[in-house]
Amino acid sequence: MAPSVQPSSSPLRTSEGDEKYANVKWEELGFALTPTDHMYVAKCRQGESFSQGKIVPYGDISISPCSPILNYGQGLFEGLKAYRTEDDRIRIFRPDQNALRMQTGADRLCMTPPSVELFVEAVKQTVAANKKWVPPPGKGALYVRPLLIGSGAILGVAPAPEYTFLIYASPVGDYHKVSTGLNLKVDHKYHRAHSGGTGGVKSCTNYAPVVKSMVEAKSSGFSDVLFLDAATGRNIEEVSTCNIFIVKGNIVSTPPTSGTILPGVTRKSMIELARDIGYQVQERDVSVEELLEAEEVFCTGTAVVVKAVETVTFHDKKVKYRTGEAALSTKVHSMLTSIQIGLVEDTKGWMVEI
Ligand code: COI
Repeated sequence: MAPSVQPSSSPLRTSEGDEKYANVKWEELGFALTPTDHMYVAKCRQGESFSQGKIVPYGDISISPCSPILNYGQGLFEGLKAYRTEDDRIRIFRPDQNALRMQTGADRLCMTPPSVELFVEAVKQTVAANKKWVPPPGKGALYVRPLLIGSGAILGVAPAPEYTFLIYASPVGDYHKVSTGLNLKVDHKYHRAHSGGTGGVKSCTNYAPVVKSMVEAKSSGFSDVLFLDAATGRNIEEVSTCNIFIVKGNIVSTPPTSGTILPGVTRKSMIELARDIGYQVQERDVSVEELLEAEEVFCTGTAVVVKAVETVTFHDKKVKYRTGEAALSTKVHSMLTSIQIGLVEDTKGWMVEI
């Protein structure tokens, strides 16, 4: 049985009418689901191409128990954000980059991806259909979550006979509610990714394995976990849901996207912004020793945006880093968010208007 989603009979008007904002306490937003009105769904048979899908009411979907997403984890997700500007335009941050990343991931997992054009158009339609859920400027963003899943029934391990491309959205605020910065624990027991695996694509299967480590760390008072490379255990790789950078002097370093690191869209943007303001950015292996000797450490990701790291704990050694006004992370966070909410001109062509 294929997943069935009932199309909306009367599309984009809701019973609440056409008011500018949904009834949300914007100041209280964290990174939790606030269901919005609509989602986008498209399907395609294996060997065919996606054609335009539909905006339908947000809700549960029905899916075959025998689908590869449920049995074998054949699925990818993306995360991107739409922002409201002071003059009330709604713009999406670099959706083409997520579309391209979904294509790379689909190739790795033997799935049929939507074209870049279809992906971007579908994201725009989803945001437009949920316009009133885009927070006021500076109060958060509409987080857009595209999924590509193997949805057709097949018992053996093989490409799915049908794929579903679905996009839902939720207004969000800060991912980590910490005032100064993150307190990270370096995990020396579990690994997030290994060479030749799927760490370099946004496979759904990359995330469940980090939960145990995160839960253990959080129960000891840490904000999150930093994983080391599986081959040597000597180099830093990624935090559970975001990329990591270290700063020493004028040099900013981040692990290279050579297969085990997710090529984050915020990571890529940060590299460009840091270079723009005169930093030398190196994409290279970064050892734990260098991490512990850095002046500053920060994380980047769609959900976390740019977040300073206040401390890193490795075994029984705890190091404290520069945070606050003097930190590069504060500067690049401000540069990035100013572009996103339209406080400064987007000279890079990153923002896509709906
Ligand atoms: C994102 O930043 O969009 C992510 O993928 C993080 C998510 C797993 C919470």
